[in-house]
Amino acid sequence: MDRAIVEANREYWNKNADAWFGTTALPVYGEMCPTEDQLRLFGDVRGKRLLEICCGSGHSLLYHAQRGAGELWGLDLSERQLENARRLLAENGQSARLFCGAMEEDLGLPREYFDWVYSIYGIGWATDLEGVFRRIASYLKPGGTFLFSWGHTLNYCAGWTPEQSHGWQGERIPLTRSYFDEEPFRMPVHGMEVVLRNRKISTYVNALAGAGFCLERMVEETDRAVLAAKPETFKEKKAHMLPISMIFKARKL
Ligand SMILES: C[S@@+](CC[C@H](N)C(=O)[O-])C[C@H]1O[C@@H](n2cnc3c(N)ncnc32)[C@H](O)[C@@H]1O
Repeated sequence: MDRAIVEANREYWNKNADAWFGTTALPVYGEMCPTEDQLRLFGDVRGKRLLEICCGSGHSLLYHAQRGAGELWGLDLSERQLENARRLLAENGQSARLFCGAMEEDLGLPREYFDWVYSIYGIGWATDLEGVFRRIASYLKPGGTFLFSWGHTLNYCAGWTPEQSHGWQGERIPLTRSYFDEEPFRMPVHGMEVVLRNRKISTYVNALAGAGFCLERMVEETDRAVLAAKPETFKEKKAHMLPISMIFKARKL
């Protein structure tokens, strides 16, 4: 794990947790992406044991709690995010076992225990993708499912720069970053900086295979309602031409 990057990101999330309360949580998988209500990737979670990686403000945990999940566990780097998650769950008469720490670390979570491990816009923060996938595989029962969503690789290569991550303008969509560039980059947000990297699709697929997963489904689609409407904003025009978000669903062999 790259500790300097993880600590910089922890500082950002502890200071800005409230600004992201409830954003990017189930049933939403990501920007302009079909939702869980449309995709039904989880199906019936009644009685199942679920662990969320980068659980943030707890809204996805609440989503599963309200659908009868048997046990809910979550981990996140940010104590402030977990405070928000605890409060949200308690206000809704629910609870989860929450752990504060990096997904790259051994947090003492049980092995071969969970039916599902999932992450909604969290996995891309990993500084050691292969190590994180191996750790996630160890938490799952054989036959258990790992599902995650993140920004689509191409989204960060076209009409996007870290400095204009929320507001690129223009008529055309230029290639702004090499598809092959997986080096960490700094992105200014809320007067601070986070450190991220953009990974090739093959990097995700090979890391899944290396950790003993079999890929069951990959979603790289734009939501039908967005496609049906005349695109007005730059982001909408882009979403007509490439996926903004992506989802991987894989089974532990
Ligand atoms: C976009 S948010 C996830 C949103 C989440 N789905 C929700 O409902 O709030 C990303 C989360 O990843 C967490 N995070 C970032 N790096 C992490 C790491 N290395 N290990 C664990 N959590 C991390 C942040 O603290 C933040 O809560």
